[in-house]
Parts: sequence; C-alpha cells; structure tokens
Amino acid sequence: MNIVVLTGAGISAESGLPTFRSGNGNWAGRSVESVCTPEALQSNPDLVCAFYDERRAEAVKAEPNAAHRALAKLEGHWRETAKGEFLLVTQNVDDLHERAGSQRVIHMHGHLNSTLCVECGWHGPRYNPLEDDRECAACGRDALRPDIVLFGEAPRHLKQIEAALEACALFVTVGTSSTVYPAAGFVEIAKACGAETHQFNIELPAGSERFDMCHLGNAGELLPEWVGELIGERPVGWNLSAEQKAAFIKEMEDCGSHSVFYCGPMAEDLRKIGLDATALPDGSLRLYDRIIQPIQPEWGEPGIYAPNVLTAAIEAHGLNIKTEMLGRGFAHRDQLEKLKTIWI
Ligand code: APR
Repeated sequence: MNIVVLTGAGISAESGLPTFRSGNGNWAGRSVESVCTPEALQSNPDLVCAFYDERRAEAVKAEPNAAHRALAKLEGHWRETAKGEFLLVTQNVDDLHERAGSQRVIHMHGHLNSTLCVECGWHGPRYNPLEDDRECAACGRDALRPDIVLFGEAPRHLKQIEAALEACALFVTVGTSSTVYPAAGFVEIAKACGAETHQFNIELPAGSERFDMCHLGNAGELLPEWVGELIGERPVGWNLSAEQKAAFIKEMEDCGSHSVFYCGPMAEDLRKIGLDATALPDGSLRLYDRIIQPIQPEWGEPGIYAPNVLTAAIEAHGLNIKTEMLGRGFAHRDQLEKLKTIWI
C-alpha cells in the first residue's frame, strides 16, 4: 500500500513556528503581495529577503515535534517492512521534517536554507541572511533570491507528486488549510484513483467533506497514536467491552438504515451504552477519534445517518467488513450481521 502525506504550516505550529492564516499568522497584518510575489521581489528585494531571513532565523531555533517524528517513524517502518512506497510532500519551507528523520521529502514550495541566482540560475545552500548580501557565488552579481515558490510561480516536482498521488492507496493531510492550489486539490486526485483520504487538523477547514475521515486535534497528539495504529504498535479500536459491543450492535439495529437522527439524541444514546460520543456545533458527531458528518435527507433537518456511524466503528477497529449488498437497508444489515459474527 503506497502512502502520500501532505503537510502544511500547522504541523510546525507546535514547534513554535507561525502558520499563515491564523490570527497571529505570517499573513496577519502583512500583505502577501508585499513579500511573497515576483513583483515584490522585483520592486523591493530587500523586504522580501528580510521576510525570509526572519523565517529562517525562527526555524533554526525551532525543534521538530511529535508529529514530525511520527511521520519519520511511519516512513521508516513502511520502508523496513516493504509495505509500499511512502512519500512526504510538504508545503513548508522549514527543515523540521528532515531534522525529525524523514528522508523522502518533497518541498513543493521551496526551502529556507537554500538560495538561487535569478541571473545565472545557480542554486545552493544558504544559512546566513540574504538581505544585505545577495552576491552570487557563481556569477558574482547581486542576484540571489530566496529559494521560495512565490505566489504565481510554479510549485516544484508536480509531475513526481501527481504520479505518487495516482498510485497511492492512502492520502493524508496534516495541518493545512487546503486553501492554496495545487496542493489543495491533491485529495481529489488521490480519491479519483481510489485512495482512502484522511485529514488531521485542529479545525475543519473548508472542503473537509472531500475527506473520508477527519481527525480533529493537535497533530502532535493525534499523529503518534494514528501512526501507532497503522504500524500495529498500538491496539486498534476503542477498547470496547463485550457488553458495549453487543449494545452498539443493538443500537445500530434499532436505528435501522433509513432514518436520519438529530446529532444530540444520537450522541446521548451512544453515551448511554458507555461510548465516548459528542454532538459537535456543526451538527457532526464525534465518536472517539472519528468525526461523522451530518447528511441532508430529501426532506427535514440534516442529521446523523446510522450506517455512517457503523462504518466509522468498523474502520476504527481496522475491520475489513465489505458488503456487496445493494441498497442502504441491505448493506447496513449485511455489515451488521458480519460485525455480529466478529463481536458477539
Ligand atoms: N495541529 C494540526 N493542525 C493545525 C495545528 C496543529 N497543532 N495548528 C494549526 N493547524 C491548522 C490550522 O487550523 C490551519 O488549517 O493548520 C492549518 C494551517 O493553514 P495555513 O496557515 O493556511 O497554512 P498552509 O495550509 O500550510 O498554507 C499553504 O499558503 O501562504 C502559502 O506558501 C504558503 O505553503 C503555504 C501555503
């Protein structure tokens, strides 16, 4: 099984690096046009260089966090156990992934620790500020610029990334607002090629409904657990007792497969049988680490649909329960019967 992971600024937030679009983010109180466009580089190279010099200085002081380390661990395990290809694509320009031990990393938006010459094209490492010294080591002209993909410029290695997306069975995003394309569209490419898609974020960014599973919370807390499950280090599932399993199955049977339930009462019923369930303000249901999105029936209020709750439980326990039955009712009952044979 091939895996592609896409990370954004949110994965470095717990290392103390600002994101872009949060209240105190890089774009707060600063116009993108003034520091992150070719026009800005043309008209005021010192300002642009100073901006990235500042970010380089911040990144040097930062340390990789548990989320960076979890991805490096997943890559190592995937390679050692030959389970498939693993590719980490990051929109970040810091080097925290590499410092955490990640190896196959594509920086699609560039690097803080390198520079390139706009005159001769020379490209090389850079650790000291560019603002007051942009002389190119190769051609001697004052033409060095940050090795950062500015808005309007083409991201790096897109062909390689798209090939990996088309060949992956699991696509995961971590700490990105999914607002900047082409990265924000990667989920569609992966999904169109049959991949299962997961999103890790502290909030539900726009477009979250495109993902099969949204994991809400700090990446530094969620990723080590999720990776532990994926590589079989941590017990899969919700550690339910036999009674809870039987009660859950009865609850799903009673709900049936056609009715849509208000999130509040559904969460209450699940709590009554001892499950960790919460109705979220946006009408979705959190059941342990799973978020079940509400659906809009032909008529009436949006609500929670029992088959989606059942699917979340089946996936959370890593159970390979598939059904060929057509029709909601038949499929739901078929999966329930199969779960019964496993759980009861
Ligand atoms: N754990 C998980 N997610 C987090 C955390 C955290 N601890 N902290 C913040 N986030 C989430 C935020 O909720 C937000 O959705 O990370 C996301 C960061 O989004 P942005 O600031 O928009 O950053 P990103 O998606 O990486 O931006 C994409 O835009 O400005 C350009 O080139 C720049 O690469 C960047 C691109």
